[in-house]
Order: sequence, then C-alpha cells, then structure tokens
Amino acid sequence: MKRVITFGTFDVFHVGHVNILERARSFGDYLIVGISSDALNFSKKGRYPIYSQADRIKIVESLRFVDAVFVEESLALKGQYIQEHSADVMVMGDDWAGKFDEFKPLCDVQYLTRTPSISTTEIIEVVRTPGASIGR
Ligand code: CTP
Repeated sequence: MKRVITFGTFDVFHVGHVNILERARSFGDYLIVGISSDALNFSKKGRYPIYSQADRIKIVESLRFVDAVFVEESLALKGQYIQEHSADVMVMGDDWAGKFDEFKPLCDVQYLTRTPSISTTEIIEVVRTPGASIGR
C-alpha cells in the first residue's frame, strides 16, 4: 500500500483544492492531509483563516478521496509528519516547486500544476468586489 501526504490551509474550500487532493490520491492508495492550524496561519500571515480549523478539517475529511487528516501545528515539523504517517510520497502544488526537495531522502516529492485562476485569496478579493466572479 502506497501512502501519500499533502499539506495546506484549505480555507474557503474551492475546486483547486478538490483537484489537488484528487490528483494526490491517484499517486497511491491512501491520502493523508495535514491541515494547518489556525495558530500556524496567524503566525504566518498575521490573520486567521475565514473558516475555523474545525470546519476546514470537517470539509476535507468528508471527501471520498481523503483517508485521514491531521493538524499541522508547525512548518518545522514536515519531516516528522512524513515519518509519523509513514508517507511514501509527498504531493504539493507547484507554487511550492523545489521548496520541499530536502525531504527527498524520506519520501518521493511531487509538485503538481495548480488549477489556474482560483485561490482562496482571489475568492476573498472577488467577494469584496461588487459584480466580480471567478473565472468569468
Ligand atoms: N492549490 C492548487 N490550485 C489552486 C489553489 C491551490 O493546486 N488554484 C493547491 C496548493 O498548491 C496547495 C493546496 O492546494 O498544495 C492547498 O493550498 P492553499 O494554500 O490552502 O490554497 P490557496 O487557494 O492557494 O490559498 P491562498 O490564496 O490563501 O494562498
């Protein structure tokens, strides 16, 4: 059995998130998703995600191609998470290309093309702008 791991905030869940999780799962038989904690997001971006950590977890774990989720408490623990979850492959969007190559001794590291024209940041922007919409 091949175990796949990926990480993200998955705030204001959108189709780009679905696509990467679905494709990540196709690299193996079991997909584990590390969802960054509210505190980690606050320390990184100076603001909390729109959706709470509990809701972000509930949404991601409800997907049929996600087998397990855990909370990513610290960016410094990626190597430990890979080992704890016995991951064979780590999958990330290509906004992270090259950034996780240091984990190649622990597992295969794959970067996948992002879904164009959508992100949580863009959705927040669109919602703030009267008359704007995604991809149209
Ligand atoms: N992702 C993707 N395609 C998109 C948006 C995100 O493949 N259009 C991937 C990212 O590369 C990452 C995962 O989804 O591997 C989780 O990304 P996250 O940062 O939670 O989502 P974003 O929409 O990129 O959020 P933000 O705009 O806040 O950076």
